[in-house]
Amino acid sequence: MKLDSTVSAIVTGGASGLGAATARALAAKGVKVALFDFNEETGTKTAEEIGGLFCKVDVTSEESVDEGFAKARAAHGQERIIVNCAGTGNAIKTASRDKATGETKAFPTDQFDRIIQINLVGTFRCCAKSAKGMLDLEPLEDGARGVIINTGSVAAEDGQIGQAAYAASKGGIVSLTLPLARDLMNDGIRVNTILPGIFDTPLMARASEQVRASLSAGVPFPKRFGRPEEYAAMALAMIENDYWNGEDVRLDGGIRMGPR
Ligand SMILES: NC(=O)c1ccc[n+]([C@@H]2O[C@H](COP(=O)([O-])OP(=O)(O)OC[C@H]3O[C@@H](n4cnc5c(N)ncnc54)[C@H](O)[C@@H]3O)[C@@H](O)[C@H]2O)c1
Repeated sequence: MKLDSTVSAIVTGGASGLGAATARALAAKGVKVALFDFNEETGTKTAEEIGGLFCKVDVTSEESVDEGFAKARAAHGQERIIVNCAGTGNAIKTASRDKATGETKAFPTDQFDRIIQINLVGTFRCCAKSAKGMLDLEPLEDGARGVIINTGSVAAEDGQIGQAAYAASKGGIVSLTLPLARDLMNDGIRVNTILPGIFDTPLMARASEQVRASLSAGVPFPKRFGRPEEYAAMALAMIENDYWNGEDVRLDGGIRMGPR
C-alpha cells in the first residue's frame, strides 16, 4: 500500500514506545494518524508532535473502542491501516513460596485475565472492528483494502519465568495472524504480526543500568536494545509491501530468551 495523505491509520498504544514511533513514521509519510491510548497526557503530547489525533481509548472496553473509531473516522475517514501496539505485562510465577514466611500462593487468576484482556482480547477487538469498517472501502490496486499489523513478542516463543500470562497473551496474538489473514483474504485485507525482542521504550527505561547492560549483552548482534524506529520501519515495510501477508516475524537481533 502506498503511504500518503489519502490514507488514514490508527495506532493503538500510540502514546508511547513502539506505537509512538510507528505513528511518527506514518505521519512523516503524510498519513493521517489517530492514536488510541488510555494515557491522555502522553497521548495528547505525541499527537501534537506529529499533527495527529488523540483518542482516549481503553482497548478492554467495547464502548470505549467504538467511541475511538467513531472519533477517528469522523476526523480522518475510514482507516486503511491499524497497528496494534497497546499492551502490558506482569511478572508472577504460576505457583511460588515466600522465602521469608514460607507461605505458598498461586498466580491470581484475575491478574492472568487482565493481561489476556488487554493484550489478546483488546488486540482482537480492534482488529475485528477495524476490518468491519475496511470492508466498505473502495479497493485499491489488486483489490487491496487495508492492512492490520499486530504486536506479539519473542515471549510468545521463549516465555521466561514469570511470563505465563504475558507469553500466553502474545502467543494468542501470534496464532491469530493466519486465521485473520484467511478470514479477510477475499476482502483485500492483509494481516501480519511483529514479535519484538528487547526494545528501548519507556517500559525498559525503568530497568536499572545493571539489568539493561546484562540484557543488551544477551543480544547476539547488534549488542544493544532495539530502537523503536526499527520496529516502525518494519511495520511500514509490512504495510508497503503488498505481498507480505499472514506472517509472524521476529525482530530481535537474533536473541533467544533463556528461562530468566
Ligand atoms: N519494549 C519491548 O521490549 C517489547 C518487547 C516485546 C513486545 N513488546 C510489546 O510492544 C507493545 C508496545 O510496548 P512498548 O514497549 O512500546 O510499551 P509502552 O508502555 O511504551 O507503550 C504501551 C502503550 O500502550 C498503552 N496501553 C496499555 N494498556 C492499554 C489499554 N488497555 N488501552 C489503551 N492503551 C493501553 C499504554 O498507555 C502505553 O502508551 C506492547 O504490546 C508490548 O507488549 C514490547
